[in-house]
Amino acid sequence: MGSNQKAENVASNGADAILVTGGAGFIGSNFLLDWLAAGGGPVVNLDKLTYAGNPENLASVAANPAYTFVHGDICDAELVAGLLRKHNPRAVVHFAAESHVDRSILGPEAFLRTNIDGTFTLLRAAREYYDSLAGEGRKRFRFLHVSTDEVYGTLTAQAPAFHEQTPYAPNSPYAASKASSDHLVRAWVHTYGLPAIITNCSNNYGPYQFPEKLIPLMIANALKGKPLPVYGDGQQVRDWLYVVDHCRALRTVLERGRIGETYNVGGGNQRSNLEVVTTVCALLDELVPQSKFKPHLQLVKYVTDRPGHDRRYAIDARKLEGELGWWAQESFETGLRKTVEWYLANAAWVERVTSGAYQQWVTQNYGGRDSGHSGDAVEERTTIAAGEGLR
Ligand code: NAD
Ligand code: TYD
Repeated sequence: MGSNQKAENVASNGADAILVTGGAGFIGSNFLLDWLAAGGGPVVNLDKLTYAGNPENLASVAANPAYTFVHGDICDAELVAGLLRKHNPRAVVHFAAESHVDRSILGPEAFLRTNIDGTFTLLRAAREYYDSLAGEGRKRFRFLHVSTDEVYGTLTAQAPAFHEQTPYAPNSPYAASKASSDHLVRAWVHTYGLPAIITNCSNNYGPYQFPEKLIPLMIANALKGKPLPVYGDGQQVRDWLYVVDHCRALRTVLERGRIGETYNVGGGNQRSNLEVVTTVCALLDELVPQSKFKPHLQLVKYVTDRPGHDRRYAIDARKLEGELGWWAQESFETGLRKTVEWYLANAAWVERVTSGAYQQWVTQNYGGRDSGHSGDAVEERTTIAAGEGLR
């Protein structure tokens, strides 16, 4: 069945459809798979398929008549307006973004374009669409903007976690572009009455995450005996959330969240990067006992720090928990085990997404770092001092 024909099917179901942007990426794929598995209703997925977007993630639902894929750019105003008119969705769930901090440092342009201009384009189209709605359709419509805790900047070791009133203080081009998009959404609520909600979530991990981000990169490199590049002293702290828990939070906010509100999403799993890498390595030692690179922790290599590297993120999710009754169900230990198992079972997926252009990126990002690994420095190893990172 061609995508146009499927589009007609969805359009005929009208009022129950949702328009998702960036649904072929990491969190979007997980969200769509859960949504369709739970019988959430028709979905139109608008995705540009950048290096981070992979339709293979959604192969299992490609033939589902409730799923329509549209290959396109959120910056294309005509396309976006046309999709809203045609599919008459009850919500827009906006994931599409450039999402990797290191890439934003080396090339911020795409981040400003997609994250700021793209969100602006969507908001303009959504406002026009919302203004055309009446009755139940108007009452029901929501614009859910999926954002990050990185907009709040960095925390010292003892500072309380980010809450919804924490002032914005973005430090990387990525964080600044997401902060800008959050401000635009806020303005569209206050000025034009668009029924939007913002979520700010901590670091996600789980299946289908592109292996440029910390956890999948460490798994992929360790399995090949490549160095595990730890930036700086490895004591930076992130607050990790299993992606399926994030997707549940988004569904909850979409159904019961209050218009104009922001909800922080996090699982209360603060870990230093070195702790994360150590746990990944221990899981690989256990799950791949025949590996010739055991113990995998010997592959750790300290490399030059990321410029402007935020020291610590931590999320206070009490508003979401208290008001909407959402709780993270996965602990870091169980979620990480599932994640490592998924990457072990899907080695072919990793191979396919990391070929070609990705290799050039690796050389660009890691090649210039002192004592760092270059794209092909597979033979370089550093054994970390006894006890270090082994707590
Ligand atoms: P990702 O990079 O894996 O996926 C982004 C998706 O957006 C890809 O499918 C890509 O093709 C698509 N896309 C990019 N530019 C586009 C454009 N101009 N038009 C249409 N599609 C485009 O990102 P992710 O990790 O899944 O993150 C999704 C959203 O969640 C982002 O907005 C991100 O800021 C936010 N977020 C991510 C995390 C995290 O830990 N990954 C945490 C909190 C919030
Ligand atoms: P990342 O997954 O890029 O997420 P974010 O920067 O959005 O938090 O990185 C998570 C942490 O891991 C961050 O502190 C940077 C660090 N990191 C490394 O130490 N080495 C790496 O190769 C990567 C990609 C990240």
